[in-house]
Amino acid sequence: MQADSDMSMYRHQLYRTWLSLRHRPQLRNWVYGTVMLSTLYFLYQFISPSDSRQTFPLESYVEPELVPQSVWDNRAERVKKAFQHAYHGWEQYAAPHDELKPISNTYQDNFNGWGVTVFDGLDTMALMKLDHEYKRALKHVEDVEFKLEEGKYAPYFETVIRYLGGMLSAYALTEDPILLRKADELARKLDPVFGTPSGLPYYGVNPDTGATQGPAIGILAEIASLQLEYTYLAKVTGKKEHFNRAQNVINIINRANYDETGGMMPIRWNTTDGTPFDQSLSAGAQADSAHEYLLKQYLLTAKRDQESLQLYIRTATQLITELMYISPTRHLLYVTDKVPSRTSHTAQISHRFEHLSCFLPGLLALGVQELPLDDIDFMDAFDKDHPAQRAQWEKLRGFSLRDVHLWAAQGLAQTCWLSYADMPTGLGPDEMLFYTNMPEQGAWGGGWFAPKTAAGGARPMTRTGGGTLWVDALRSWKRSGARGVPPGVGDKTPVVYSKEDRVRGAFGRDYSIKKDEYLLRPETVESLYLLWKVTGEARWRDRAWRIFEAIEVHTKTPAGYASLRTVQTSPGVKDDDMPSYFFAETLKYLYLTFIGDTPLPPDKWVLNTEAHPFPVIQWTAEERERFRVGY
Ligand SMILES: *[C@@H]1O[C@H](CO)[C@@H](O)[C@H](O)[C@H]1NC(C)=O
Repeated sequence: MQADSDMSMYRHQLYRTWLSLRHRPQLRNWVYGTVMLSTLYFLYQFISPSDSRQTFPLESYVEPELVPQSVWDNRAERVKKAFQHAYHGWEQYAAPHDELKPISNTYQDNFNGWGVTVFDGLDTMALMKLDHEYKRALKHVEDVEFKLEEGKYAPYFETVIRYLGGMLSAYALTEDPILLRKADELARKLDPVFGTPSGLPYYGVNPDTGATQGPAIGILAEIASLQLEYTYLAKVTGKKEHFNRAQNVINIINRANYDETGGMMPIRWNTTDGTPFDQSLSAGAQADSAHEYLLKQYLLTAKRDQESLQLYIRTATQLITELMYISPTRHLLYVTDKVPSRTSHTAQISHRFEHLSCFLPGLLALGVQELPLDDIDFMDAFDKDHPAQRAQWEKLRGFSLRDVHLWAAQGLAQTCWLSYADMPTGLGPDEMLFYTNMPEQGAWGGGWFAPKTAAGGARPMTRTGGGTLWVDALRSWKRSGARGVPPGVGDKTPVVYSKEDRVRGAFGRDYSIKKDEYLLRPETVESLYLLWKVTGEARWRDRAWRIFEAIEVHTKTPAGYASLRTVQTSPGVKDDDMPSYFFAETLKYLYLTFIGDTPLPPDKWVLNTEAHPFPVIQWTAEERERFRVGY
């Protein structure tokens, strides 16, 4: 009874309120509006799954092949707008410091404090014809003195690929003399870094005092990713010392013995005598750009530096035959790393797959386009009298090298794309760990070429009926008549876990996520760009667009774009960070993917590892003589 009388009191109150509202139309409208909005919001909560992806694509779906170039031109404009939004944010809140923190609207000085965002973004501004931004940026460059307090060190590798590479590529595009002068000045100030007995660079250098810093054991990517920058710098300054810096590194890596590592450069190097220090192999962190520069140095020198090409072919062979695996149930192709085991003589395959490694499909595709891969002997990449090299050559016999490189490019690019499409945000995680077997399904992962299961054994211990077994997958496929697309290649369907899936523990993706942040990194869109250019298949371009949409939806802030702390919940959780490579690489590759004719055809331009383009070099007879060009 008590409840009933409460109820009638409540009804009475409500009636009186309604009566009073009838005489106060403004208040009434306000109340009605509020009630209406609350109801809508309440309903929305019900009908929208709380943890599912935003609706993609934001534009209604059209078969990628049917999208006209005029639509792609609009999309390129959207990327340009994104660049302006982010750069204006940097100008407003972070100038003249290194990077904008796009949530707090403050700055950080994480790369020498000279304004790395400007240097990295210069050539993208030139390509996008952002003249006003470019003019202001050029003024900034002119004013920078490349100074550091005593006791501080410029990280050599990052300073070269971002600052030096940024100025040189902008110079190549605009021919503004300030850029060349400042590039030469920076290279001079960094030069003490080559004070090791071998001439491989130290980790860091103080550009004022010339003091150097770094361990005696150097990291591959950091000691062997300067060849493009210094070779081009030598071309435009005419200075032999720059040429020698690049050539010394090339000579050291060509001279080294790779019998223990299948022809591939290991991660750690002794900077005293310039020899490999261990047998760890990786396509990703600490190694990536050194492998990349083998092919790119060959292309930059107008396909003259044959030794760099040969090392590239041997490297790709080792990556393909030993470090590429197929996952148990989705048959995703991935490339992983090999670390020497403490307990046994054999190295261990980690089955980690890094976002950083997603540059590799693009590099392989570039090689497919630019190299005579069907003529393996023409390239003379393997010395048949050298047992280790002959063994590597034997592994690929019977296959067209061109086919294998293209399949690897397509398969890996597909996996990189899926790592985005599998996530509720549509953006990919920084690192995955692939499962090696799914015994419940009777499925084992295994080597794409390697005659081993992913778990390491030559054969799985048991094999339940109906399961798949990937051992030496590509050769088995070929033996069985080679029908359809090769294992690991071809389109796969995304698997998006719901929140419940995540809580319960789902396995349908074939991998777990080791690092779930998205750092606005470029590697996947870089490869989508190259796959689109090399194959002409619009689906690669379409995927790049979907990634751009996800960037707009999940990472945009009032002042810029923010890394995500996790890609596993939608909307993404932002981090207060906007790296300079977002300007140099991510937005540049997206822009290049969407515009019509490329301003950077690969037979005329080579992009450094920070996506800074340098024109292909033709040495004059006089330069060949003076530099003693050996190729
Ligand atoms: C590097 O090489 C030098 C010369 O061969 C050798 O003396 C030194 O011990 C090596 N460094 C390490 C850490 O092995």
